[in-house]
Amino acid sequence: MNQIMGQFGHTGGEEVPALECRKVGRTYMIKRGMFAEKQPLKAVQGINLKVNRGEVLAIVGESGCGKTTLAKMLLGLLEPSEGEILLDGMPISSVSILDIAKKVQPVFQDPYSSLNPRKTIEAIISLPLKVHKIGTKEGRHARVVEYMRLVGLPKRLIHSYPNQLSGGQRQRVAIARALIMEPKIVVCDEPTSALDVSVQAHILNLLQDLREELNLTYAFISHDLAVVEHLADWVAVMYLGRLIEYGRATDIFANPKHPYTRALLDSVLTPDARLGLPEITLGRGLPNPLSPPSGCYFHPRCPKATDECSQEAPVLLETEDRLVECHLYK
Ligand SMILES: Nc1ncnc2c1ncn2[C@@H]1O[C@H](COP(=O)(O)OP(=O)(O)OP(=O)(O)O)[C@@H](O)[C@H]1O
Ligand SMILES: [Mg+2]
Repeated sequence: MNQIMGQFGHTGGEEVPALECRKVGRTYMIKRGMFAEKQPLKAVQGINLKVNRGEVLAIVGESGCGKTTLAKMLLGLLEPSEGEILLDGMPISSVSILDIAKKVQPVFQDPYSSLNPRKTIEAIISLPLKVHKIGTKEGRHARVVEYMRLVGLPKRLIHSYPNQLSGGQRQRVAIARALIMEPKIVVCDEPTSALDVSVQAHILNLLQDLREELNLTYAFISHDLAVVEHLADWVAVMYLGRLIEYGRATDIFANPKHPYTRALLDSVLTPDARLGLPEITLGRGLPNPLSPPSGCYFHPRCPKATDECSQEAPVLLETEDRLVECHLYK
């Protein structure tokens, strides 16, 4: 049995994953205009994923492909419309809010809007403890000091306010706040994309160090493959809400199979990845998720598309070293 199948739990008897998605989907009902009928928008569709303890799963894809929707479901902040999320093998819907908070914590993209500007750094970092009535005031203070040290924040900032901190420092505050509950799992949703490139590397290194020191498990979301290259053990590529390629990071980076993954990697190789995907490889832009293309969702932009691709939707295939949803690999 190959490792991919093991990772997807097709073999039995191995460890319970820290986090698991079983056929998870989320549909939003969208109203476009006052008198318009509501239309379903499938933001996430039929996602099966597992994250084993101590491993890093990177979830990548362009803006709007459903990454944040998936992240919110992994955190128990949003209910799936289909399928279920399991936390340590337990359906997340059956786990209490306190127990979810003890196991899985978020670090979001924007350290500017995710920190309350009227609270001191101490109040922000200790908030999860206060909300869940954990420890005494003195005990919480000691924990804040400890976690500030852990994330590399000078102690003198403890009574400062977020607007007195740099972007990188704010993200360290967000990380300390996430870790103070001692979660095993951290869901990072684009934790570095609002930061300057030089600061990004520091935060990525910090996350890597913390992972080793605290034996953390990460679901790490990014639109940029370059960001996850050194951190990820596994990579899941999403396109319009679907999982289209999944495998070990080393395999994906060495040999991307899906033409979309290939294009994402090519864009990483362009001088400025923020300029987006090179048009030569991808042609037209991202389709409207309210009326996705027929057949393979990626076919209008795919350099390798055939007639079959516009007519028939591919299924997720198990190849030797990964899963890939593309007719080329039948
Ligand atoms: N609360 C909502 N109500 C309606 N539609 C939504 C809602 N949240 C997201 N969507 C839609 O669902 C799709 C997926 O959005 P999502 O934010 O999950 O994508 P994303 O991959 O995180 O994008 P980005 O990289 O821009 O953060 C998009 O088409 C978006 O417009
Ligand atoms: Mg997002």
